[in-house]
Amino acid sequence: MFKPHKLAIIGLGHVGSAVLARAIACQLAADIACIDIKPEVAHGEALDAVHSLSCSYVPGIHVHSGGFEECRDADVIICDAGPSILPGQKMDRLTLAKENIAVIREVMKNVTQYTREAVFIMITNPLDITTYVAATEFDYPAGRLFGTGTTLETMRLKSIIGRHYHVDAADVQGYMLGEHGNSAFPAWSTVNIGGVPLDSLDEFYDHEKALDRQEIAQEVVNTAYDVLQSKGWTNTGIAMGACRLAKAVLFDEHAVLPVSMPFTGEYGLKDVALSLPSIIGKNGVEKRIPLHLPADELEMMKKSAESVKSVMRANQV
Ligand code: 2OP
Repeated sequence: MFKPHKLAIIGLGHVGSAVLARAIACQLAADIACIDIKPEVAHGEALDAVHSLSCSYVPGIHVHSGGFEECRDADVIICDAGPSILPGQKMDRLTLAKENIAVIREVMKNVTQYTREAVFIMITNPLDITTYVAATEFDYPAGRLFGTGTTLETMRLKSIIGRHYHVDAADVQGYMLGEHGNSAFPAWSTVNIGGVPLDSLDEFYDHEKALDRQEIAQEVVNTAYDVLQSKGWTNTGIAMGACRLAKAVLFDEHAVLPVSMPFTGEYGLKDVALSLPSIIGKNGVEKRIPLHLPADELEMMKKSAESVKSVMRANQV
């Protein structure tokens, strides 16, 4: 019998509520369950969304709140439980490790009472550490649990390069890799527009100001803090990224997107989760693509791993 897609959203803060809105707008699932440590918040978000359906173009979506038992028959779970970084403080994502490792252990204890079948997409920061903890401590099948990773940084990179050359960001190819956070780096060896490689972009796209790689790498990382300082949180970009990944799963797209998962020896690295381009289909990560990186990018991958690992060690992960 045909079973309509079901999405469970865990954590209905700024990000979770943006995921909900985006999921409805792109008709990601026919059944959407909202789960929050504060049931009244999940209830309110679900109810607000139900009201929105009566004047939307997407009738027939069942939005409701509930407990972790809602995960039992979910196809995809998107998790943004736990506090986020705040503006106006010297905070980066890694400073949330202690608190959010505990939050994610609690979430996973609850989720795994009901399912290890749903594809689990982690958003909670520090993303690579929460992903590692959830993927390695709860017998979740390899590949069925992954983090949004540098999908968001890659979106930011495309947006910034697209603006620079005045071309559609969607036509910029290439990846940010490594940590979702301050040590993320552009894999410049993967960047091209319309098949034109990086070194020829200035010539082909007639740009008076040459692309400054250092400047752009910094801007991709810093732009998250710009958003944060300006509006108090980030949510629209990550909600779009998470829904893009969920769609790749629900429609078995075999889309290639950079997500975070524990490394198993790629580049000599293990015991850490970081992002690599990956083929995403109905089983989650179907295949990782360990690109042949030039020496300088390999070095940045190793630095990124060390930065995440040092925080894992400090938190006994
Ligand atoms: C972001 O990069 C803060 O991780 C969040 O938007």
